[in-house]
Amino acid sequence: MNILVTGGAGYIGSVTVEQLIEQDYRVVVIDSMERGHKKAVHPDATLVEGNIGSKKTVADILRNYDIDAVMHFAADSLVGESMENPAKYFHNNVTCGLTLMHTAAEHGVKRFILSSTAATYGEPNEIPIPETHPNAPTNPYGESKLMLEKILKWFYQSYGMQYTALRYFNACGASKRFGEDHDPETHLIPLVLDAATGKRKFISVFGDDYPTPDGTCIRDYIHVIDLAKAHILALNTDGSGIFNLGNGQGFSVKEVIAAVELVTGKKIAVKIAPRRAGDPARLVASSEKAQKELGWKPLYPSLEDMVGTAWKWKCANPEGYKDK
Ligand SMILES: NC(=O)c1ccc[n+]([C@@H]2O[C@H](COP(=O)([O-])OP(=O)(O)OC[C@H]3O[C@@H](n4cnc5c(N)ncnc54)[C@H](O)[C@@H]3O)[C@@H](O)[C@H]2O)c1
Repeated sequence: MNILVTGGAGYIGSVTVEQLIEQDYRVVVIDSMERGHKKAVHPDATLVEGNIGSKKTVADILRNYDIDAVMHFAADSLVGESMENPAKYFHNNVTCGLTLMHTAAEHGVKRFILSSTAATYGEPNEIPIPETHPNAPTNPYGESKLMLEKILKWFYQSYGMQYTALRYFNACGASKRFGEDHDPETHLIPLVLDAATGKRKFISVFGDDYPTPDGTCIRDYIHVIDLAKAHILALNTDGSGIFNLGNGQGFSVKEVIAAVELVTGKKIAVKIAPRRAGDPARLVASSEKAQKELGWKPLYPSLEDMVGTAWKWKCANPEGYKDK
């Protein structure tokens, strides 16, 4: 089976390509390299440097490599940046995403897997969040992904292109070869690891008076290999639909810091800062549906595994991919 992976030079895309190749899929990656790394592309994958918003580039790939299915990771995904510059998000995620989806449908692609986000739900009124929870994104990033999901629903109805949208919160961890190298980095685990290496002096904890057991916010973390495996399961499932990928319980900011201290053996300097506007106390998605219908079961649900694999990768690649 020939798979086009968009954003395959990015964090989650690179690990998914690796998993696909281990399972004998033929993989073509398209990445603009705006935030990607050439060294993050598995050597057995074909890399096309280009933009998913270019109809010609996408059409050439679909035709030349006889693509059966598309896994779509290419997007901008910084919540703060999306609030400052919504046009960038609607252009890159929605306009370019639509070009990709339309071209795929025109070329008879049978399956489309969208890496979506649990930011589609907005402030939850139920935890863990089920797929039936109302969608009310609180930022343009979440809105842009919700728009893609809606387009896919109509494309399925009219063009018969089956789709699966996977909604999740925080990817983390690393495979042996590929890990997280974002600039700027906004995710908690790599930021705390930077405090362990001395790259950052301290970690700011935004609020320790939330109604949670230790007073800090609780968030959902999924190991990147588990995410990759879920995308591949979705590839092999008939029908169309939306699935959450969550770990069911979530971990608090203090628990993440404690796990980093345990794994690295370093003491992390912490500064308690005021709460940030719009930060809910708890964000955890239910993955019951994915477990039942996709047969997905996380292999690395423990925080020690998530932090441990990210730490190993960071120790082996202290400056990341060093290609920027
Ligand atoms: N990282 C997370 O915690 C997380 C959580 C939920 C959902 N997601 C989603 O998963 C996907 C991957 O996330 P990531 O953390 O690996 O991001 P990433 O930034 O590491 O990777 C995205 C890749 O897409 C490429 N890209 C962006 N726009 C492009 C375009 N128009 N044409 C071609 N390439 C383009 C970038 O160069 C980059 O290599 C994103 O769609 C994101 O919304 C990520």
